[in-house]
Amino acid sequence: MNDLLKLRLRQIRLEAEDIASYELVSATGQALPAFTAGAHIDLHLPEQMVRSYSLLNDPAETHRYVIAVQHDREGRGGSAWMHTRPRVGDVLQAGAPSNDFALADTTAPAVLIAGGIGITPLLAMARQRQRARRAWQLHYAARSARAAAFMDELAALDAGAQAVQLYLGDSGDARMPLAAIVAAAPAEAHLYCCGPARMIDAFVAACAGRPAAQVHTERFAASSAAATAGGFELVLQRSGRRFTVPEGKTILDTLLDHDVDVQYACSAGVCGTCRTRVVDGTPDHRDDYLSDDEKACNDAIMVCCSGARSPTLVLDL
Ligand code: FES
Repeated sequence: MNDLLKLRLRQIRLEAEDIASYELVSATGQALPAFTAGAHIDLHLPEQMVRSYSLLNDPAETHRYVIAVQHDREGRGGSAWMHTRPRVGDVLQAGAPSNDFALADTTAPAVLIAGGIGITPLLAMARQRQRARRAWQLHYAARSARAAAFMDELAALDAGAQAVQLYLGDSGDARMPLAAIVAAAPAEAHLYCCGPARMIDAFVAACAGRPAAQVHTERFAASSAAATAGGFELVLQRSGRRFTVPEGKTILDTLLDHDVDVQYACSAGVCGTCRTRVVDGTPDHRDDYLSDDEKACNDAIMVCCSGARSPTLVLDL
């Protein structure tokens, strides 16, 4: 944890109803680690909360990171803290940027599809494509005009080219024709989607006939519920410790309850931070991070949400 970045909050801006952006600069004067479009940082908040936020500014910028947070009143507390506690000038801690939703380095067109706060990584992608003078189009759905963030920046990026299409829930043309957008994309296009689970499921279904390498998604939450049935033994091979995972707890809950030092961020099976090597046993995969092939290998598990199909699970911890 000593290698966390110290970031000073330079600006907080209300971008839309319940969405604020946060501009973070180095608190030490050292250059910030570079990032690529689609990357996120893990902010380390009080009470051991770690939350992943996509970087939305231009990856060519080396002096700042900009994130946006939607206040989720039903959430686990991270967004509520971000919307009520930090003040300009405060220093926050974060891991270096990492990217599980990278923009392909190709001249083939990029079709970017965003729902709600899912606009953030796609905004960075649109900026990078625009700077590289490569073709892109962005389709952005929000529940209302008031809930749509970064409208001025999108208009400036678009500059009348009609690369940006909006679908606002309180206007006449509210529904995003997702299947038609995908169907109209050239065969060589790369397609990217970030938004609510239902949108991503529809996107994945619409892209079924396209090469998997050209279809990119980033979820906020896993599409399956976390495994909390418990009732299996957890063996930590390196330390020799063993625990029973009780009903109602995930593997991660159990590890934290026993003060095992394990990395995690989203706690929802989407960021990959908690990936742990499986030495023996069969995981009950519930995440949206590992590919189907990786899940079939059963040699890795996302401990924040997945469980065990075998009576004992031996982990490389
Ligand atoms: S903490 Fe994000 S996948 Fe487990």
